[in-house]
Amino acid sequence: MSARTGLAMPSYVIVGGSRGVGLELVRQLAVDAENAVFVVARNEAGSKYLNELVEKSTTGNIHIVQADVVEASSMKAAAASVAKATGGSLDVLIHNAARTELTHAFRGLTDYEDDDTLDTEFIQSFKVNVLGAIHAVNAFLPLLRKGSAKKIAIIGSEGGTSEYAWGIRIPGMAAYATTKAAEHLVATKYAVLLEPEGFTVVTISPGLVDTRATAVEKADPADTTEMAGQIARFQEAFTNFKAFTPEEAVSRILSIVAEISPKDNASFWSYYEWRKKD
Ligand SMILES: NC(=O)c1ccc[n+]([C@@H]2O[C@H](COP(=O)([O-])OP(=O)(O)OC[C@H]3O[C@@H](n4cnc5c(N)ncnc54)[C@H](OP(=O)(O)O)[C@@H]3O)[C@@H](O)[C@H]2O)c1
Repeated sequence: MSARTGLAMPSYVIVGGSRGVGLELVRQLAVDAENAVFVVARNEAGSKYLNELVEKSTTGNIHIVQADVVEASSMKAAAASVAKATGGSLDVLIHNAARTELTHAFRGLTDYEDDDTLDTEFIQSFKVNVLGAIHAVNAFLPLLRKGSAKKIAIIGSEGGTSEYAWGIRIPGMAAYATTKAAEHLVATKYAVLLEPEGFTVVTISPGLVDTRATAVEKADPADTTEMAGQIARFQEAFTNFKAFTPEEAVSRILSIVAEISPKDNASFWSYYEWRKKD
């Protein structure tokens, strides 16, 4: 309960908030002392940047809940501990967690040294990017049903769209892109399912965001060259291409979350505008 307004504090769950875009979502939401911000992190002790943020925060409204999106039971336990703190409800769920590890990030479908490596990377990506989103939404749904906003935002990626893969002719990032595409469909399935209950379920792409400041892996020089090549193609493809700072990307995401309503169900929010495509 808010001391200032006497109303229940708007509550947010950020799934995957230990670094990058998720960490900045937590930071910006926590600036408003009226918000209760719950962060799902799979390794609380190892989440250096998140722990630093909690220490520095003067609002005292960031609550870390340890859970791994791959494990449905741990997400259910996380939801139970959030329910205890909020009295059973949740207003907004932002599902941000994704498998972004660099070893296989830029590989295309024929770039794997053997079939086992390809299968493992696709299965791990599916577990985090697709089942992870499903586990998160299913676990928090009972709380969201009791909340006042009934909003679910899945953080997606232009990379997970056929329009982008074909339009920019990017063969790489195959496991990531394929599973992000499936995650977008998961958001649409939830929109269909939950629209009759007054929910709003959307996918928001943050755009290209430079998250190196809070990264846990150092980029290989070859990946940096690959990325520079992709950026040149983005510049050709989009009239308004820009790479965002986490601050810029998150401020845009949070304005979208604030403004969406059921008429936006199943929408995909991208910042970029295509030049004329062939
Ligand atoms: N950065 C971009 O340019 C860009 C562009 C388009 C879309 N996106 C999307 O934006 C979102 C954030 O991207 P980012 O660049 O900020 O990624 P990031 O810096 O790599 O952060 C990924 C987050 O997901 C968490 N995570 C991964 N696996 C998890 C699991 N099994 N359980 C719980 N949490 C898990 C990580 O936690 P740990 O610290 O424990 O690993 C981390 O907090 C993703 O959905 C991504 O697809 C990013």
